[in-house]
Amino acid sequence: MQKDGFTSKIGFVLAAAGSAVGLGNIWRFPYLAAKHGGGIFLLTYLVLLLTFGYSLLIAENCIGRMTKRGPIGAYRKLCRGKRGFLGSVRIGGWINAFVPLVIVPYYCVIGGWVTKYVFAIGGNPIAFFAKDAVAIRADGSQASASAAYFADFISSTWEPLLYFLLFMTILVAVVAFGVEKGVERFNKILMPILFIMIIGICIYCMFLPNAQEGFRYYLMPDLSKFSYMTVVAAMGQLFFSLSIAMGIMITYGSYMRKQDDLVSSVNQVEFFDTSVAFLAGMMIIPAVVAFGGKQAAESAGVGLVFITMPQVFASFSGGQIVGIAFFILVLFAAATSAISLLETNVQTISQELLVSRRRSIVICVVEILAIGVITILGYSVLKHVHPLAFIAKYRSMDILDTLDFLSNSVLMPIAAIFTSILVVAVVGLEKISREIKQNTRWVREYSFQLCMCVVVIPCLLVVLLHATGLLN
Ligand code: PHE
Repeated sequence: MQKDGFTSKIGFVLAAAGSAVGLGNIWRFPYLAAKHGGGIFLLTYLVLLLTFGYSLLIAENCIGRMTKRGPIGAYRKLCRGKRGFLGSVRIGGWINAFVPLVIVPYYCVIGGWVTKYVFAIGGNPIAFFAKDAVAIRADGSQASASAAYFADFISSTWEPLLYFLLFMTILVAVVAFGVEKGVERFNKILMPILFIMIIGICIYCMFLPNAQEGFRYYLMPDLSKFSYMTVVAAMGQLFFSLSIAMGIMITYGSYMRKQDDLVSSVNQVEFFDTSVAFLAGMMIIPAVVAFGGKQAAESAGVGLVFITMPQVFASFSGGQIVGIAFFILVLFAAATSAISLLETNVQTISQELLVSRRRSIVICVVEILAIGVITILGYSVLKHVHPLAFIAKYRSMDILDTLDFLSNSVLMPIAAIFTSILVVAVVGLEKISREIKQNTRWVREYSFQLCMCVVVIPCLLVVLLHATGLLN
């Protein structure tokens, strides 16, 4: 992220896409799609993307560009002089800024898992992960070798901790020494390679025996699998993946120049992010179904990419090299997203608590360490801790899932409700439209206004009530 503004439109698009494309697309999207019925999840996701996702993405960027501030400053500026309810909308800025603080620790935990897998694929004979290889787990149960390897890894205490520390240290060093631009430059080359690689793996997976059934599962919506939880999950994923409802896009918008075309930039970010997620699903879901049948897809969890992709790599010669390259590229995608998360937190803390940048980094590190370590222990020492056990449907949720759920399905809808109120009631749609259209044609203006006025807030409230278990 650049403090002094982007010097070109493509600079904005690359930076925003770098933040948006990350673990959300490659780790989170495929497992949620597999778990929530495949095609029906994909359809729900796409509908939400074109309505909510787009509206909030462009609104946040617009608010940022209008005010030239991050989330807290932007809300404060726009609510200035307003009284009563409209004045109190300014707390929305704080809620937006709080979300990345919840995400960054567990993002680093998953970043650690990806780091481990670069070594795991490189350091074991690739046949070890073959789909038919069976292993006896530490607790005596039997599982596919790949699944057992993952389960044993996350439930050991020290290894995940070590890789988490490694990922976090590199991340903090990048932010502390201000070399984000260098990483971004790298990414301009690496992300297209990742994209091409994913397409190549997709094509390979198409020809796996039984892949057809998997494609059908992923691409053909089965309405009987639809429930409110599909919407809750798709909505949370949308926020996470587009990096919206957490102040990040407001910050990016604030670096954008007035003369740049906001409409087409946002379209491009929306397109890139969704393409990567869609293709990641195409790459993983048919493979899971081919290897383990539909029930394996339906019972997918956070380990999906770590269990299935090694099995894919073990199924062709040269797979080990491709596998190492794949996890390295995913690591870079995760790193750029993590940088944007941490950078936002550092800026928020130093501006709002009036501390130096260095002190703010220290505060962030302490926070990431504290929550990250608890998250990791949630798979070993603290495995009986289920923070949301008081809500029946979340009785068995572990700590990582709880953080993920609270940020994506509870805090982000709340943050998005505030942003919608800010746009509709505090600033007014007219003014927002004028800012967006000032140097371009805007075809989706009507649908944006319709969404903002009548769709977004009621739907978000329903999602929130379902997510919190108040509605069933
Ligand atoms: N959008 C990123 C991803 O898909 C995650 C992220 C969330 C990045 C919030 C920055 C801010 O992985």
